[in-house]
Amino acid sequence: MAVSSSLSVIFFLCITFISDAIVPQNETFRYVNQGDLSFDSESLFFNSEYAPTYRPLPPFTFPFQFCFYNTTPNSYTLGLRMGTRRSRTVMRWVWEANRGKPVRENATFSLGSDGNLILAEANGRIVWQTNTANKGVVGFAILSDGNVVLRDANGNFVWQSFDSPTDTLLIGQSLRVNGGPYKLVSRESVTNNVNGVYSFVIEPKRLALYYKNNMRYWSSTFPELDRQNVTIVNATLVIAETEYEENNFHSLRCQLQNGQSFEFPSIDMGQIRYNSSLSYLRLSIDGNLRLYTYRANVRGNAWSLLYTLFDRRENENGMVFEDECQQPNRCGKFGLCEDSQCVGCPTPNGVFAWSKDCDTKPPGCNAGGFKYYQLKGVDHFTVKYTAGNRSASRSDCESKCTKDCGCMGYFYHTDKSRCWIAYELKTLTRVGNSTHLAYIKTPVR
Ligand SMILES: *[C@@H]1O[C@H](CO)[C@@H](O)[C@H](O)[C@H]1NC(C)=O
Ligand SMILES: *[C@@H]1O[C@H](CO)[C@@H](O)[C@H](O)[C@H]1NC(C)=O
Ligand SMILES: *[C@@H]1O[C@H](CO)[C@@H](O)[C@H](O)[C@H]1NC(C)=O
Ligand SMILES: *[C@@H]1O[C@H](CO)[C@@H](O)[C@H](O)[C@H]1NC(C)=O
Ligand SMILES: *[C@@H]1O[C@H](CO)[C@@H](O)[C@H](O)[C@H]1NC(C)=O
Ligand SMILES: *[C@@H]1O[C@H](CO)[C@@H](O)[C@H](O)[C@H]1NC(C)=O
Ligand SMILES: *[C@@H]1O[C@H](CO)[C@@H](O)[C@H](O)[C@H]1NC(C)=O
Repeated sequence: MAVSSSLSVIFFLCITFISDAIVPQNETFRYVNQGDLSFDSESLFFNSEYAPTYRPLPPFTFPFQFCFYNTTPNSYTLGLRMGTRRSRTVMRWVWEANRGKPVRENATFSLGSDGNLILAEANGRIVWQTNTANKGVVGFAILSDGNVVLRDANGNFVWQSFDSPTDTLLIGQSLRVNGGPYKLVSRESVTNNVNGVYSFVIEPKRLALYYKNNMRYWSSTFPELDRQNVTIVNATLVIAETEYEENNFHSLRCQLQNGQSFEFPSIDMGQIRYNSSLSYLRLSIDGNLRLYTYRANVRGNAWSLLYTLFDRRENENGMVFEDECQQPNRCGKFGLCEDSQCVGCPTPNGVFAWSKDCDTKPPGCNAGGFKYYQLKGVDHFTVKYTAGNRSASRSDCESKCTKDCGCMGYFYHTDKSRCWIAYELKTLTRVGNSTHLAYIKTPVR
């Protein structure tokens, strides 16, 4: 008696468990990465970003579609593509499942009846998954804003693609300070889909751009956050109505929200007259931030580049553009930059004409094997947005660099006694202020 009743309890529990977990048959799917590849070759206008070959998959919600795409043979990314043939412009990849972990022919993308969304190789090895097995998932959808979701029976999102961005934010998508996605990471190159060297990071007091995780080359400045002593909770790409509503203007912003105050500082990215609920912010391959708008149902020219952080344009309408010289790689491995242009190649014998090959010679580690040469009126790309080491003397700064094998040179502001050690030189900006000095290591003959 006791045995049979405990058995029936177990049976009952199993039934409940299974009925909670099961995704209806018609909502499950399994797509195999095989068959003809599209080349987009019929017309230049139909190309996809990075010029890949690809296989579109059935999940589609205008103008978003899942595809397997590759830029190198047999090395596929599962991506969400935005754009339609009708719009006759390059289609863009706005989300991806498996950066740095490409899959091969016959890989599968599937939603099983347990509710786990899986990307696996043909042999079954799981490459990426949502880890949502038995969590009450009953359906999968690409929403009209480009968010891909797994929903439970109450319509709540058990998983959403908006929580795992790589280099792109769509409207409504956020970076968050406490838990959840906190950064975008650039793509290495057009052909190589692995993490690049740039990241766009949310921090309690600012948004910042980093080269190789620790060299900050830009950050937002919001004095009001300090004044009100509040910290950021999230940064969300939003469309806000403007005061010119009667003219149908909308303004696109990266808005910083906080729990304590109703004032939300934001980075304004421009105003548009059309409905552009389909826009995206991209940390580009070159470390620049760009915002593109998409005009649905327009023939031709659906995309517009609305905003570029590092831009030659003068600042206008409260929009702040940074000089292109702030980009670490603007002038290659080593170059002098002025007003967004590469203007020189510094050497121990003077400044010569800039070229892509401009570089320093390895100084070696032995202090007797190198010397320093001085450049006046230049800053390293980290100088503008980092404090440097305050109240250091120039000789302290130099000896720190001398003892540090990785130090390629140091930057010193004589008026404020501040010191920066540079592990990579990259782009130096000419600032026309003789208190800003650079000392570059060079091997002695
Ligand atoms: C699956 O069937 C249900 C009930 O008939 C329906 O509401 C739902 O839209 C279907 N899902 C798909 C993907 O066809
Ligand atoms: C993919 O699977 C099909 C069978 O479904 C097989 O004919 C083909 O050879 C496989 N392709 C590769 C590259 O393994
Ligand atoms: C700022 O806020 C923090 C925590 O909210 C608090 O501990 C700190 O005292 C505040 N500082 C000032 C200057 O008000
Ligand atoms: C951002 O933070 C604010 C304030 O805590 C919150 O109300 C809002 O829902 C958050 N937005 C997103 C998209 O997480
Ligand atoms: C803008 O377009 C989207 C679909 O693309 C639609 O859902 C939304 O209602 C539109 N907004 C306005 C203000 O027309
Ligand atoms: C700043 O410089 C001083 C003096 O050389 C040194 O003691 C200190 O460690 C430096 N701090 C940093 C953060 O580099
Ligand atoms: C040089 O920079 C300092 C601040 O770093 C500033 O006070 C000074 O006015 C600048 N001089 C010139 C000529 O721009």
